[in-house]
Amino acid sequence: MSKNCNTSAVGSDELIKLGIEGITATILECKSCPLHENATNKVIIRGSERPKVLFIGEAPGKNEDENGIPFCGRAGKVLDELIDHMALEEDEYAMINTVKCRPPNNRKPTQNELRTCRPFLLAQIALLDPDVIILLGNTAEQAFCVSSLKWGEAVITQEGKHLMKLYHPAALLYRRTLMRQQKEMIDKNKKLWQKI
Ligand code: URA
Repeated sequence: MSKNCNTSAVGSDELIKLGIEGITATILECKSCPLHENATNKVIIRGSERPKVLFIGEAPGKNEDENGIPFCGRAGKVLDELIDHMALEEDEYAMINTVKCRPPNNRKPTQNELRTCRPFLLAQIALLDPDVIILLGNTAEQAFCVSSLKWGEAVITQEGKHLMKLYHPAALLYRRTLMRQQKEMIDKNKKLWQKI
């Protein structure tokens, strides 16, 4: 069941034609919303260009803004721990965010910012073409889904991709109980990426 989750890149065709490098160049030049005004770096992708599993986070934080790399700070260390738990190899995963510029004071991206950046997100998904998309937290879910997914319960999108919502790694930082639950959800779904 798709739960009204739409990862289709209809409307992003022009971006898709540009390829990964062209999209990166376009994002670097983008001034479509005010977030670019305070960005030190645009934060575009970390990982494989042919991932089995694509992680979608919320928005760059301070470290990511400084380095231009998704999940390179404290939340990233937690995500790395989860990736180890999933037994994914270096070339089997990638990480992107719903918006590519850091919102001031780490606030959540607004609906308008999500909407403005969405064509980049959808084109990245189309080009990276993962088998499994893992939405890290509710903001990532809002970028795709009309109705709520259940935590850790995989659905299939209309494009035939497995889609699952897990807790955002920042929520797990000092909460070992949630981390245990997260690992249980991962274990329950591991066939999705292990048999592919
Ligand atoms: N949190 C996110 O959602 N994305 C990052 O890249 C870093 C922290």
